[in-house]
Amino acid sequence: METSPLSHNFTRRFIAGETLDEALAVCQRLEGQKIWTTLDHLGENVTSLDEAAQSRDAYLAALMRLSGLPATVSIKLTQFGLDFSEAACLENVRQLAAYAKSIGSRVEIDMESSEYTGRTLDVVTQIAQEFACTRSVIQAYLLRSAADIDRLNELSIPVRLCKGAYDEPPPMAFADKRDVDRNYVTLMKTLFDKGTYPAIATHDEAILGEALRYARERKIAPEKFEFQMLYGIRSDLQRRIVDLGYHLRLYVPYGTAWYPYFMRRLAERPANAVFLLRNLIRN
Ligand code: FDA
Repeated sequence: METSPLSHNFTRRFIAGETLDEALAVCQRLEGQKIWTTLDHLGENVTSLDEAAQSRDAYLAALMRLSGLPATVSIKLTQFGLDFSEAACLENVRQLAAYAKSIGSRVEIDMESSEYTGRTLDVVTQIAQEFACTRSVIQAYLLRSAADIDRLNELSIPVRLCKGAYDEPPPMAFADKRDVDRNYVTLMKTLFDKGTYPAIATHDEAILGEALRYARERKIAPEKFEFQMLYGIRSDLQRRIVDLGYHLRLYVPYGTAWYPYFMRRLAERPANAVFLLRNLIRN
């Protein structure tokens, strides 16, 4: 599917393009709309350390082209070699973080499935201590997340809070979506009260409303946190957040290895699968 010429027709809603040039053009367009960005060079679970080094180099190339854009990069540690060598993975991230820091940017470290959570937080903590230019991701569906957030807050490491996109069974995760949403709000308030420049990453209108209400009630200034959303999802909400004077960063994926990312977006909303089927039939 990734190499099919037809794929562009149905991936373009969620993927900025195949090349860095296309992704940067999107970031520039978004900057004109006062929207910040974080670039995701698609790829995960690489099959060798050589491939991991290529991923690192692709991200370095992206950072070198950001010149003045309000952009960070978002990486997955399985793309940087975590499945093969934690030491090699850490070294790859180190090289990226050193460069990001030198240009005033940041490396956001996505959270993958729960088999990687502990090791990912170890790398985040190490990189944060060495460079202070990273952001961790915490998933509200995991039962362990409250304790993880407390530890990250103690270390003043910024957190992106999301609901979680992988298929996690109990007892690791809440089984009921309502429990995930409730936990999200609890963790969000902890981040507002005790966190360092948190990122509230969701398209859930009820949660966004609660975030705005809580921030106003606690007199938390808009520059103390940011909202984050995914490229191609709820542009109406994106506009509203910016118009209200809050910071919004869009997660902008690009590249050819789009299949796992795209499937997670389909799984989040049945209507997306209908849209995909219609396109396939039409083509
Ligand atoms: P929810 O799924 O309840 O959706 C709320 C509303 O948003 C829906 O009613 C719909 O209108 C819209 N919506 C949501 N998803 C949609 C879709 N795919 N297509 C169309 N409409 C959709 N996860 C993870 O495990 N690790 C990570 O590192 C990250 N990183 C990350 C960064 C950023 C910036 C965001 C916004 C999200 C992530 N995620 C993530 C994904 C996250 O865990 C979650 O799967 C999605 O954001 C969907 O959850 P919502 O919070 O939007 O709520």
